[in-house]
Amino acid sequence: MHLWSLIFTLSAALAWSPPSYSNWQTLWSDAFNGPSGTLPDQGNWNIINRYMNVNNEWETYIASPHEVQLSGGSTLQMVPWRNSSVMPRGWSSGRVESVYTFTPQPGVRTMAEGLIRFGSHPITAKQGIWPAFWLLGDSIRHGTGWPACGELDILETVNGQLTGHGTIHCGVFPGGVCNEPLGRGGKVAIPNQEWQRWRIIWDRTAGSWEGESISWYMNEQLFHRVVGAEIADAAVWASLAHKPLFFILNVAVGGDWPGPPNGDTRDGYGSMMEVAYVALYASAGWSKSDL
Ligand SMILES: *[C@@H]1O[C@H](CO)[C@@H](O)[C@H](O)[C@H]1NC(C)=O
Repeated sequence: MHLWSLIFTLSAALAWSPPSYSNWQTLWSDAFNGPSGTLPDQGNWNIINRYMNVNNEWETYIASPHEVQLSGGSTLQMVPWRNSSVMPRGWSSGRVESVYTFTPQPGVRTMAEGLIRFGSHPITAKQGIWPAFWLLGDSIRHGTGWPACGELDILETVNGQLTGHGTIHCGVFPGGVCNEPLGRGGKVAIPNQEWQRWRIIWDRTAGSWEGESISWYMNEQLFHRVVGAEIADAAVWASLAHKPLFFILNVAVGGDWPGPPNGDTRDGYGSMMEVAYVALYASAGWSKSDL
């Protein structure tokens, strides 16, 4: 290999690795290395293969590299396809859920982040496209219903809009402290469809659950925060901040929030969500200047 191409390859690879942050230790990550057109590491991810029948969504998740693939450039791509032979509603797409679970620990801060971009189709070609990077309480895998299990949406966008939404779902449906089905959310303007870093931080350094917080960031910009005292229910707060959680990456199509895809909605890579890494960190010694 020519020296220049070696240097270029190394710098490109480094750019996609989960960063090391001073005063934080990396607990878990996946940088999505591997050959183009293969599935992500199934030791790390459950690859969903069914029609989930939630939120009136249209997509059937298929565990195939057509819908969920490593790009070969150290990224994971989840790709929605319009396909009339896919039952029941004519779209396939990709969804992965981490095998790994984690519990934000008392006395420290815990940070979950991913580096994400969207496919390059114009916004007008994305009616119904609904990408998401989010967490569910592991208790949903053991019989607890939704939203009692707890849900933290680190990033969602709908219909190609350059608005990032960060939201919690909790408690009871309908209503409750999370005002279901809406949840408690914040939003931020996204500069473009290119790479942005999406992050939430649980801060459990307060010494009481009422003083604990969860904060949402795009790049370094804070755009949403919830505090234990606002939730005002120890068990509900625990479902969001004291119990095991797992990661989900997916692209939904249609459903109650975005509305249905229309004749202008385009499928394929131009409507994908691409993820360079997912990583979890814990603060080694908390200081206000950590970020
Ligand atoms: C449509 O979906 C079917 C069933 O999953 C699959 O076999 C076929 O390859 C898909 N066609 C295209 C063009 O993606």
